[in-house]
Amino acid sequence: MQIDKNVEKDGVIFMSIKDEENSSQNGNGSGIKSDQISGSCSVDGSEPDVTILAIESSCDETAAAVVRNGREVLSNIISSQIALHTVYGGVVPEIASRKHVEKINGCIRAALDEAGVTLDDIDAVAVTYGPGLVGALLVGVSEAKAISFATGKPLIGVHHIEGHIYANFIENKELEPPFVCLVASGGHSHLVLVKDYGDIEIIGQTRDDAAGEAFDKIARAIGLGYPGGPKIDKAAKEGNPDAYSFPRAQIPDAKYDFSFSGLKSAVLNLINQDRMQGKEINQADIAASFQKAVVEVLVDHSIEACREYGYDKLAIAGGVASNSLLREQMEKECAANGIKFYRPSPLLCTDNAAMIGAAGYYEYKKGVRFGLDMNAVPNLSLGSRERRFHAGKG
Ligand code: KG4
Ligand code: ZN
Repeated sequence: MQIDKNVEKDGVIFMSIKDEENSSQNGNGSGIKSDQISGSCSVDGSEPDVTILAIESSCDETAAAVVRNGREVLSNIISSQIALHTVYGGVVPEIASRKHVEKINGCIRAALDEAGVTLDDIDAVAVTYGPGLVGALLVGVSEAKAISFATGKPLIGVHHIEGHIYANFIENKELEPPFVCLVASGGHSHLVLVKDYGDIEIIGQTRDDAAGEAFDKIARAIGLGYPGGPKIDKAAKEGNPDAYSFPRAQIPDAKYDFSFSGLKSAVLNLINQDRMQGKEINQADIAASFQKAVVEVLVDHSIEACREYGYDKLAIAGGVASNSLLREQMEKECAANGIKFYRPSPLLCTDNAAMIGAAGYYEYKKGVRFGLDMNAVPNLSLGSRERRFHAGKG
């Protein structure tokens, strides 16, 4: 993975992420030529290539990508606002929406240029339409609708969490459903069975905080700041994971559900006790012990689901999937249990548009087409989401 990073004048980080394979194949990384795209066929010659322009703006990353046949990333541009929100200790929705408006055209232009294509070469526009922050989602949705209207290309709404799951297909060309997937992000913790493309059954979910949310809250409480996940991950490397024994919640009537509120309270109580006794809190030890408790539950549930449902493939997805201990422990436990383990590179675990292009492709192949009445759905649910099939276009 080749990453070009550039901090802009307003503090926003602009990243171009290229698959090494594609950048070397295409020489200077400018992507393949337009005439190679239009009307070209997949390797075995059976089906024409499908090139998708994908847009993501559900939280604090404005992103655009061009993805071919669901798994080949021709360009992947991310404009990250993390630095802007750091001073507030978390994402400020109003600032996020305004920055999306400022950055989205530049991201799309960069994605098309880097892929070496124009809008004429695109077969469809895919966009995250939920879940997420409504003002942020609306920027991507409006942009995608405008492009679809202007070019006549089909419009496809993608579920953000499905996007995270499909990020696994990008670097693991051989991965096919069925598999178990743990999705752990800032807003969601789901354990799902990916039975087929677009056929996802939720077997467990969080009862309270999402795993990433717990990381963010604890990081703030121990003074590490935002974004919490990566900071705890780093601090934990210097700490003792057995310094404190924090609770691991098991929910008796729903063994695959998660609950992180008890763990969060235990950490907050410890911090308060230390402070009341005038003791200095040990950030590294708390980070390491907290991280161990979260990771243990995520790994145990995932392995148990593979065993019970008889799946021999396990994938992880979402921002928390970039956690180094989670990756290490999953790898170890999968090897011990004869399960093949899949995970995206850390940069494809956090929000990006390449994953939306991957999910958009499989929706496109199913015939999913949205009309210009598409709207942002901030609380879009995963299992039972509507799929829209419009006759006509594309
Ligand atoms: O998937 P994502 O980029 O955005 C959402 O859809 O929410 O996930 C962001 C979440 C944040 O809560 C962040 O703290 C967490 O993922 N995260 C991590 C790590 N990197 C990001 N959590 C633990 N360890 C990490 N290395
Ligand atoms: Zn996400």
